[in-house]
Amino acid sequence: MQCQQCRASRYRRYTRRPAGAARASLCLTLMALLPILRFPDPRLRTVAKPVEQVDDALRALIDDMLQTMYEEPGIGLAATQVDRHVRVIVMDVSEDKSNRKVLINPEIIAASGSQLCKEGCLSVPTVFVEVQRAESVTVRALDRDGQPYEFSASGLEAVCVQHEIDHLDGKVFVDYLTPLKREMAMKKLAKLARAES
Ligand code: NI
Repeated sequence: MQCQQCRASRYRRYTRRPAGAARASLCLTLMALLPILRFPDPRLRTVAKPVEQVDDALRALIDDMLQTMYEEPGIGLAATQVDRHVRVIVMDVSEDKSNRKVLINPEIIAASGSQLCKEGCLSVPTVFVEVQRAESVTVRALDRDGQPYEFSASGLEAVCVQHEIDHLDGKVFVDYLTPLKREMAMKKLAKLARAES
C-alpha cells in the first residue's frame, strides 16, 4: 500500500468527512506500519533498556506499534520486535479492540498457577508452540502518560504479557522448544522466506 500524499509504502491513509462537506475527505494522520523483525534475526536477542522519559516521541512509537499490531493482526507486540530496544509493550487480547493496554517498563510482581497454551508470534509466522506459563499474573507498568498502574491478568492475557516481556529480555518462544522441534520450526520459516522472496 502506498500513501497517496507522500508516496511512502507501508503507510495507511486516514480519511474523514469534515462537517458540512459532502464527499470531501482529508488526510489527517500518517501513522507508520513498522516492519517486524523475523526470527532468527539476532536483533531479537537484544535486552531492552528501561524507559527513562515518557515523551511525545515514545508515544508516537506506541501509536505506531498499536497500529502495526492491529494491522497484522496480533494480540501483542514488544518494541524489540520493531527493532526499538526499550521496554515497551502493546497488547489487546479482545476480538473487538476493547482491551488495549500500553505497558512501559512492565514488571510481573506476582504469578500463580500454570497453564499450557499454544502460542504464535508475529516474529515467527506460521509456527505455533505449546509453552508452559503462569496461569495468573499481576503486572506493574507505566501507562501511555507515564502514570504507574497495576493489573491482574489470567488465561490468554497472562500468556500474552509473559510472552511479550520475554521479547524485552531477548527471548523468543521457540527457545522453549526441544532442539529437534526448533530445527523443524526453522525449516518451516526458511521455506516461508523462500516463498515470499
Ligand atoms: Ni512474539
